[in-house]
Amino acid sequence: MKRRNIVAGNWKMNLTVAESRELAVAVLSEIGAGFSGCDVGVAPTFVALTETAKALDSSSLFLAAQNCHFENEGAYTGEISARMLLAAGCSYVIIGHSERRQLFGETDAIVNRKVAKALQDGLKVIFCVGETLDERESGITGDVVTRQVKGGLAGIDGIGDLVIAYEPVWAIGTGKTATSEQAQEVHALIRGTVAELYGAEAADGLRIQYGGSVKPSNAVELFAMPDIDGGLIGGASLNAADFAAIVKAAC
Ligand code: PGA
Repeated sequence: MKRRNIVAGNWKMNLTVAESRELAVAVLSEIGAGFSGCDVGVAPTFVALTETAKALDSSSLFLAAQNCHFENEGAYTGEISARMLLAAGCSYVIIGHSERRQLFGETDAIVNRKVAKALQDGLKVIFCVGETLDERESGITGDVVTRQVKGGLAGIDGIGDLVIAYEPVWAIGTGKTATSEQAQEVHALIRGTVAELYGAEAADGLRIQYGGSVKPSNAVELFAMPDIDGGLIGGASLNAADFAAIVKAAC
């Protein structure tokens, strides 16, 4: 059985509240009702969540946050908890994005605590993994991604609310996309690792998105691969027409 594709727009640190609302409205008008065959959502900045939620109100697009903390509340200046995200209208959160890992020091252990907390509190999680260019060129892509998957999921019992995003760091925001064969190879490896951890049936049901310079021109080919179940879209998600074209490729 083919898994239901999932496409999410990661708006990163772009757009004011008003601009986010405008983009949400534009995305809705571009994609119309044409995405019933897959799940589609957007991840604005924290400050824009509430207004974007209002703009998405009667649609079936989901709202995602780009990060969360692993505690409920307390003296953690600058952090936001899973329960706050739920209250703001989020159903998903992106955790362990490579920009969080590389620029903000998030380790596998931190990512693991965040994944565990978000799932426990009832958010669905898009858990990101991926190797750097150095790691790929050194031939250790498989080791790195396997370590990230096992580390991020340590102690987590169920993966029914989990999506994994494979995002090779060298393909993010660079215009370089992994070929569909390169991506498929790592997706299959991730699914194999998840099968070791949770069994074949759970692994078979797990959705694994590809991310890294997905565009309307390469989306069809990527999403056609047997283990690629949609995409996590950065740059192209800031343009409603491009995002809609990618959604169309997935649905
Ligand atoms: P990109 O970003 O599509 O701009 O490469 C993808 C991501 O970081 O999620």
